[in-house]
Amino acid sequence: MPENTLKQLAYTSEAMIDTGAIVTPHFLERIQANNAIYEITGALTWRDNKFMQIIEGPSTSVNRLFATLLRDPRHTNIVLISERVVASREFPNWDMRAVSLADEDLTKHLPAARPNQRGSRILQAFRRGLW
Ligand SMILES: Cc1cc2nc3c(=O)[nH]c(=O)nc-3n(C[C@H](O)[C@H](O)[C@H](O)COP(=O)(O)O)c2cc1C
Repeated sequence: MPENTLKQLAYTSEAMIDTGAIVTPHFLERIQANNAIYEITGALTWRDNKFMQIIEGPSTSVNRLFATLLRDPRHTNIVLISERVVASREFPNWDMRAVSLADEDLTKHLPAARPNQRGSRILQAFRRGLW
């Protein structure tokens, strides 16, 4: 796979501490700064004690981040839901947007021009209780 191939990956995991205690402004600022460096974009959401994250970017960056995520003790039981090469980003303007599914209409947050792409559909399925 050429180094600059764009990849999109989706996984679920179980939080080891309260999701609200992980997804703080401090946490988001830090991961967004990292993601800007590695050209990662995507979405992070949660339901009960579970996370769902979509990460997209150059395959080397995505692989690197996923390897880091697998070792992060703040979550466990990581399940890869989807991993594919993509022609373009689905969330080009999100340096890792945290989308709360609890009380908001997710579709309001999804990029308007791309509501039916796979990442968005995966997020919506997660919201409905899948995984
Ligand atoms: C649910 C979850 C999502 C995360 N998402 C990202 C991410 O998008 N980008 C990132 O760099 N780190 C993310 N992290 C944190 C990484 O696992 C790791 O702690 C971090 O990249 C290390 O960065 P540092 O070397 O700046 O401390 C996430 C952690 C958790 C638990």
